[in-house]
Amino acid sequence: MSVRRLADESVQPKSFAFTAANLKWAKETIRKYPKGKQASAVIPVLWRAQEQNDGWVSRAAMEEVGRMLDMPFIRVFEIATFYTMFQLEPVGKKAHVQVCGTTPCMLRGSEDLIRVCKRKIAENPHELSADGNFSWEEVECLGACVNAPMIQIWKDTYEDLTPEALEDLLDKIAKGQKVKPGPQIGRVNSAPEGGPTTLTGGVTAKAKPRPAAAKATKKAVKVPPANAGRPGSDAAITSKAIKSPAKLPVKAGPSKKSAAKPVPVKAAAKPAGPERLAKPKGKADDLKMIAGVGPKLEQTLNKLGFWHFSQIAKWTKKDIAVVDDGLSFKGRIERDDWVKQAKALAKGGEAGYIKVFGKKPR
Ligand code: FES
Repeated sequence: MSVRRLADESVQPKSFAFTAANLKWAKETIRKYPKGKQASAVIPVLWRAQEQNDGWVSRAAMEEVGRMLDMPFIRVFEIATFYTMFQLEPVGKKAHVQVCGTTPCMLRGSEDLIRVCKRKIAENPHELSADGNFSWEEVECLGACVNAPMIQIWKDTYEDLTPEALEDLLDKIAKGQKVKPGPQIGRVNSAPEGGPTTLTGGVTAKAKPRPAAAKATKKAVKVPPANAGRPGSDAAITSKAIKSPAKLPVKAGPSKKSAAKPVPVKAAAKPAGPERLAKPKGKADDLKMIAGVGPKLEQTLNKLGFWHFSQIAKWTKKDIAVVDDGLSFKGRIERDDWVKQAKALAKGGEAGYIKVFGKKPR
């Protein structure tokens, strides 16, 4: 946690007064607390002051809150400087982006998101963009780790982000377009990304998944191929494929047309990347035989241009990193050693697999 100090005198307004509506609200809020305990209202009242004051609390605002609550000013300063929800200096008028940098988000790519902020907003946290509309900072866990990496803008969170999705989000906000909070890959809340992973057997073979789960599966299949196939690194953002971020949907879900088709090799592949095919050579292999690949992942792999064990068997470390990012789950390929499994299956089919792993493939 960095040291949090009040903003420089040069930006501090001389005074602060609540609007009539906010004053009424503040008085009602203070009345909710027992006599002598009005100081307990300090956080909501400070928060309202921040909302009124373009997203930050000035010293004058803190002093006014202290007066209203009959608190020593230092107590109000202590609270405002302790909680990172309070901004102590001017922030972007359109968005102050809080990027979660805690471990789960970091492991899922928050550093790439920070690089986007540095490039698109300003080099340093809390520094205003040239037009004064944006600012950013890194914060600790914001409680949406299950959909990491994520950011918060004002009261809303935006989850399951890639650098490209964040760029698109910022572009939309800059243009005054509406953006949808929550997961950005089409999953329902925090439902499993590839559909249900438990209780999938059902009582009979024909048992249908529950409606909510079915919906999640259906939506998750709509992960935009462009998003899924692209490396998440910052360098990748500059690649030709994503030079027009405005064209990328923030919300997952390509048109029905694109969801049904495999990704054109031209759009998804980089010359030096793994071998991709627009369609299988003959019959596609059952990639689900690889432990760790379920029906949804098989679909995603197909969309990315992978149909055969022989393709996966040739993946290098670099290729794995590229595909891994496309699957939005870093480490999955190496964790289950897909390459070794694919090599065994490509070489000897089921028998080859048993020979190497001592058990049948799935
Ligand atoms: S670690 Fe990022 S939301 Fe929890």
